Amino acid sequence: MIRIIIQYSVLKTLIIVFVLLVLSNQNNDMLYGNETGKNLNETSEDAINIIFTGEENGYLEPCGCSEKELGGLSKRHSLINLLREKDANWILLSLGDIPGKVGRQDEIKMETALKALGRMGYAAHNIGEKDISMGLDLLGYLSQISSVDFVSSNIVNPGPQILRIKPYIVKEIKIKGATRKVGILGIVSPELIDNGYQKIEVVDPIESLEPLISKLIDKTDLLILLSHAEIGDSIKIAENYPEFDLIISGHGIDEPGLHIAKVKDTYVIPVGEKGKYLGTITMQPEFSRTDEDRPSTNSNLPSVEIISLDERFGDSTEIKMLLKIYQQRLRDEELLTQVFKTELPSNLSFIGNDDCAACHNKIFKHWKETGHASAYETLVKAEHEYDPECIECHVIGLNYFTGFETIESTPELKGVGCESCHGPGSAHKETQSKDYGKIDAVDCTTCHENEHSPSFEFNEYWQQIIHPLEEK
Ligand code: HEC
Ligand code: HEC
Ligand code: HEC
Ligand code: HEC
Repeated sequence: MIRIIIQYSVLKTLIIVFVLLVLSNQNNDMLYGNETGKNLNETSEDAINIIFTGEENGYLEPCGCSEKELGGLSKRHSLINLLREKDANWILLSLGDIPGKVGRQDEIKMETALKALGRMGYAAHNIGEKDISMGLDLLGYLSQISSVDFVSSNIVNPGPQILRIKPYIVKEIKIKGATRKVGILGIVSPELIDNGYQKIEVVDPIESLEPLISKLIDKTDLLILLSHAEIGDSIKIAENYPEFDLIISGHGIDEPGLHIAKVKDTYVIPVGEKGKYLGTITMQPEFSRTDEDRPSTNSNLPSVEIISLDERFGDSTEIKMLLKIYQQRLRDEELLTQVFKTELPSNLSFIGNDDCAACHNKIFKHWKETGHASAYETLVKAEHEYDPECIECHVIGLNYFTGFETIESTPELKGVGCESCHGPGSAHKETQSKDYGKIDAVDCTTCHENEHSPSFEFNEYWQQIIHPLEEK
């Protein structure tokens, strides 16, 4: 049997390197290319190489709001191409959960991302609960058109003509002239499914896996489970089924390198969230499960590497093009006009910066020179000005009635304006009340939150844009 034995020392070094990388954000070369960049430097033709990613959760690319952002499909593709230069033998696996939330934008996202996975040559996409939440119609349609196999061992298939989904796949790899077979299964934890809402039935993975493992154990040399479940549940599966050599797991784990678990001979390895990391596993299987003379202990030492997708990797033009088409579709479908809006309290409305300028001219002139005033133009430059997910923080009041709708209908509300911070000003314009627009540091963090503004610190930031004193 081919076992995955990760050399503990290697693993530890990787994890330590990983921690250093996260903490210091320096010495990036260490993980990639130099000392521990095993896969990139030493990948050979006699190995089974696996790439795993997943849990994109709606995150197709970094927004560019800060410099510290990791991930994105386009960088991922560049890294995969680099890995392929060393060896063509990569099996690419996706754990599941492409969309972030339910809605038209994430439907388009899911289609875009699956197309990208297809271009990158993914073998399998396991179905996660967020994929399921998009509904049977979309999932069925995508399963029919996608070049990536949809895999799930515990979804009760409503019919292959509706959902083209496989309980497992077997990939064949040629190693030193011999064929090695890798069985790939996938589950989604029933506990993650919003019961009664979707027409898709999900059953207990422990039960559904048993007959499949019995069927595959003698026909494959390696068994891998894509486990879309809490890490604890994945560990439970590992305890029940030592037949798995490797379980790729997920859920709620931000930094995957810190959570690798070993259950007897099975490794349970998380992928991390939002596609910020790409995991690789390399194994040198010398013996087939069916070889008579295979040793009882295994001397093959696979290595695991978690690579953070940072600025070392360029953008793949092919994926960039797909993402451009994605933006075009957001524009064509006018998604900005379909944003869910909330009522403002007591008939207030947004009036735009020009009205404020009449009475607070000095503040207005100063504001004009800040980045807030040109936040919309930033999106135009980035070609994301039709993307509701970006517009939200780069204009006034997108999520409210009377707030920003489109650049044609509400040009006066573009940018982070006075009312983005002080609130709707219609009543104040009449009353000129001193009570209007009291704000504090917390109000900044609706936009300057950790993801988009990791260095935010109120005093330091406010000093950069503090209003000049108004003449009375
Ligand atoms: C949650 C609010 C939020 C969302 C959503 C958001 N941004 Fe931003 N963006 C910010 C903030 C805050 C900054 C300033 C960060 C800082 O300087 O610390 C910023 C800065 C930027 C910058 C850098 C501007 C500069 O001149 O340095 C770019 C580019 C940008 N955003 C693009 C985008 C794009 C593209 C999207 C959508 C994919 C997006 N933003 C979504 C809040 C947001
Ligand atoms: C017609 C003139 C006028 C217009 C238009 C106007 N303001 Fe005022 N604003 C005033 C006056 C007068 C005060 C009270 C100043 C005082 O008593 O110190 C005031 C007070 C304020 C305060 C509270 C100041 C404090 O002491 O805490 C804020 C904030 C403010 N205005 C923001 C705005 C914004 C934002 C707009 C546009 C949406 C706006 N104002 C439009 C005249 C105006
Ligand atoms: C509605 C969302 C939003 C709110 C609220 C917000 N910001 Fe920003 N902020 C942004 C965006 C978006 C940018 C990036 C603008 C750009 O360059 O395109 C930004 C940029 C900045 C910058 C860099 C400005 C420059 O000139 O380069 C500072 C400083 C800043 N914000 C401070 C604050 C402070 C302090 C608060 C609260 C008092 C605040 N912001 C509230 C969205 C917001
Ligand atoms: C990034 C958020 C932000 C934006 C944008 C913003 N302000 Fe303010 N404003 C503040 C903060 C923070 C204070 C200080 C509040 C405090 O000290 O209690 C303030 C204070 C004020 C005051 C009270 C007088 C003062 O200087 O303390 C007025 C008037 C005012 N703002 C008007 C405006 C006008 C007019 C605009 C648009 C041209 C605007 N603000 C844009 C955050 C903002």
